[in-house]
Amino acid sequence: MADERHAAEEDWAGQAARALDAVELSPHAEPAEQDVESTLRPRDLREFIGQPRVREQLELVLSGALRRGRPPDHVLLSGPPGLGKTSLSMIIAAELGSALRVTSGPAMERAGDLAAMLSNLVEGDVLFIDEIHRIARPAEEMLYLAMEDLRVDVVVGKGPGATSIPLEIAPFTLVGATTRAGSLTGPLRDRFGFTAHMEFYSPAELEQVLRRSAAILGVALDPAGADEIARRSRGTPRIANRLLRRVRDFAEVRADGTVTRSVARAALEVYEVDELGLDRLDLAVLGALVRSFGGGPVGVSTLAVAVGEQPATVEEVCEPFLVRAGMLARTPRGRVATAAAWSHLGLTPPPEAVGGTGSLFAVDQD
Ligand SMILES: Nc1ncnc2c1ncn2[C@@H]1O[C@H](COP(=O)(O)OP(=O)(O)OP(=O)(O)O)[C@@H](O)[C@H]1O
Ligand SMILES: [Mg+2]
Repeated sequence: MADERHAAEEDWAGQAARALDAVELSPHAEPAEQDVESTLRPRDLREFIGQPRVREQLELVLSGALRRGRPPDHVLLSGPPGLGKTSLSMIIAAELGSALRVTSGPAMERAGDLAAMLSNLVEGDVLFIDEIHRIARPAEEMLYLAMEDLRVDVVVGKGPGATSIPLEIAPFTLVGATTRAGSLTGPLRDRFGFTAHMEFYSPAELEQVLRRSAAILGVALDPAGADEIARRSRGTPRIANRLLRRVRDFAEVRADGTVTRSVARAALEVYEVDELGLDRLDLAVLGALVRSFGGGPVGVSTLAVAVGEQPATVEEVCEPFLVRAGMLARTPRGRVATAAAWSHLGLTPPPEAVGGTGSLFAVDQD
């Protein structure tokens, strides 16, 4: 039974991962995106745009450590995909002048993998564990000890004759990244001296991201063009950079190469990204919710069937954004369209529709 459930979960995750590849505006990185992402990464804290609170806090943590000449406390970076967690981990190592060792939760399947990684650390190294919430339990327990006592216990042999040999580890800093801080166990979370909560970016901050990326990629981007793309980027630098590349293609092929507001608008219409950053699938979900289910409440699986998608895709890609944009509410009885959703589709909300005015994107419209 437990096995069955496990298999079902794996299948679910696998489906989600496959479906995500197909979705234009997923905040997850596309495989082909990695090279261009690394050329666009900010290299130090001054180049890192937005997140003023996180930046200030990190600056203090890092300069304190540099002053004392000791590695800083372990750092947990928590927040949705594409907001700059991996970039920040590299910046932390760069600011400290330390080497960065990179691994991920899923790669630490056996405690031995982690033991090898830890025992190879040199004093001051930064160890980055991406998706740290997916680390296997035995490795996680080993990590506690390493974080707290700079020690790992390596078990040699099996059964009653097994002995554990303590091994010292060089003082290091662990930087963990997670999109699901909630699924981290308490003991692991408690061992981080500092947690940075990453927030979605404002349109103004995304404009800065776009200007910087355009300069690196050699794209002629005028301010109104940047504004237009920023508004449709779902508060996420990764999506802003992706839209910039698509708009650039359009500008080169169908215009004179300069990204103006009208070029950006025309391009994003071709790619079916609307003025609030909703894509084809988001609109299909809202449309089904409103037109076929009278605004809800309706269960997520039913909704997914109605739009011909996997429930995981609807849940992990569409919903977080629709909820944040104030268009969809998750209730115990199911998903409900807010008044803002009805209006966005050009329909009159019924009197009982939930007022949905909490839109991040409704502010500074001109
Ligand atoms: N503050 C920022 N300033 C400039 N560019 C940024 C910033 N944050 C993110 N980016 C850009 O967005 C891209 C994605 O960032 P990054 O890979 O660090 O996100 P992430 O939070 O690690 O995502 P994931 O959860 O998918 O691993 C980077 O290539 C970088 O170009
Ligand atoms: Mg990352």
